[in-house]
Amino acid sequence: MDLQGLLAKRRTVRQFTPDPVPQEAVAQIVQAGLMAPSPNDSHPWRIIAIRNPGVLREMRGAVEKKLDTLFPAPTGDNKARLDKVKNFSTVFAQAPLVLAVMMKPYRAVVDDLLAGSALTHEQINALRKHPDVQATGALVQNMLLAATDLGYGAVWVSGALVASDEIDRLLKGGEYKVQTLVAVGRPAVSPEPRPAVDLKDYLTTID
Ligand SMILES: Cc1cc2nc3c(=O)[nH]c(=O)nc-3n(C[C@H](O)[C@H](O)[C@H](O)COP(=O)(O)O)c2cc1C
Repeated sequence: MDLQGLLAKRRTVRQFTPDPVPQEAVAQIVQAGLMAPSPNDSHPWRIIAIRNPGVLREMRGAVEKKLDTLFPAPTGDNKARLDKVKNFSTVFAQAPLVLAVMMKPYRAVVDDLLAGSALTHEQINALRKHPDVQATGALVQNMLLAATDLGYGAVWVSGALVASDEIDRLLKGGEYKVQTLVAVGRPAVSPEPRPAVDLKDYLTTID
């Protein structure tokens, strides 16, 4: 598919058929992700492909529990809000495949340069607007496009990250911590291609 067609076709899919995603497709999707740029070509990522329903159930349980802890007794409109947040945060558990994108904070040259300063790595990284995290977005978008190209649907799920500590304990990624989740499967629905937006709302040019 040509690039413009692929960009328009990629839409979030939250309902999947039970068909498994074979390892060959996993490899193609992840290879596409790993072609993304990263600061100093550091590739600060690892991907954990989860197809085990038991692990996905545990992850969903951890997210629900965390949300219940954070919002123990919602009242009024907040009840419906919490239900909605729970749905959007646990939607990954219905997919036949979840790609957990794990990241190790990137140690930049600037870290060494500023080692003698009072700034911590986290402060330097924040000052630089988290280039390692930015690179994760590029990786995820590549994977979404590759999944679409292969006829799969996918949803990028950051809502689950309220339980990132619990998910890290389940996934055992060591120094690589979960950064985001991407759920993938054969789409059970066919979303409309995304229409082009009005550039004037988004683009300013300084000549
Ligand atoms: C960083 C990021 C986090 C997202 N997190 C969630 C999420 O937790 N749950 C969910 O259902 N969708 C999530 N989405 C999907 C967005 O809701 C979706 O991309 C948006 O509504 C635009 O629709 P489209 O992807 O079909 O163009 C996320 C998207 C991005 C880019």
